[in-house]
Amino acid sequence: MYITRKAEFSASHVCRLPSLSEEENARLFGAAAHANGHGHNYIVEVTVEGEPDPTTGMIIDLKRLKDILEEEIIEPMDHRFLNYEVPPFDRVVPTAENVASEIFRRLDRRLTGERTSPQPVGLWRVRLWETPDLYVDVESQRRGALEPAGGSPLNGR
Ligand code: NI
Repeated sequence: MYITRKAEFSASHVCRLPSLSEEENARLFGAAAHANGHGHNYIVEVTVEGEPDPTTGMIIDLKRLKDILEEEIIEPMDHRFLNYEVPPFDRVVPTAENVASEIFRRLDRRLTGERTSPQPVGLWRVRLWETPDLYVDVESQRRGALEPAGGSPLNGR
């Protein structure tokens, strides 16, 4: 089963490679290469995979998940200029793809490292909306890893 929590943050970025000329950056990244940067109201949808605890009926402590999103995304990224204030974007171009990957990496580390539920849970997907008509999905490579050792009746779907 999957449960998704949504969060929003506003941040600035500029998409350019220092090794390229002004013209090459403009050709590659378009207006996003403009040196002074520009902002987005990012929306992130975080999907966690697990089975509901038989007693509580919950996959994950949603308050805990909210706190993790706050600590790993909102607090460090909201109202920041990503290139100058949020590593690794001092050296990695903060495209929607790269921002989504970084969010996935941060959340995956927390969700696999902390006990957020009596049942095993895992980060399944991060969907990052950069504009209302553009989003990026980063999905776990560990599909089905939460199933009990020895397999479940649902294996082999
Ligand atoms: Ni942009």
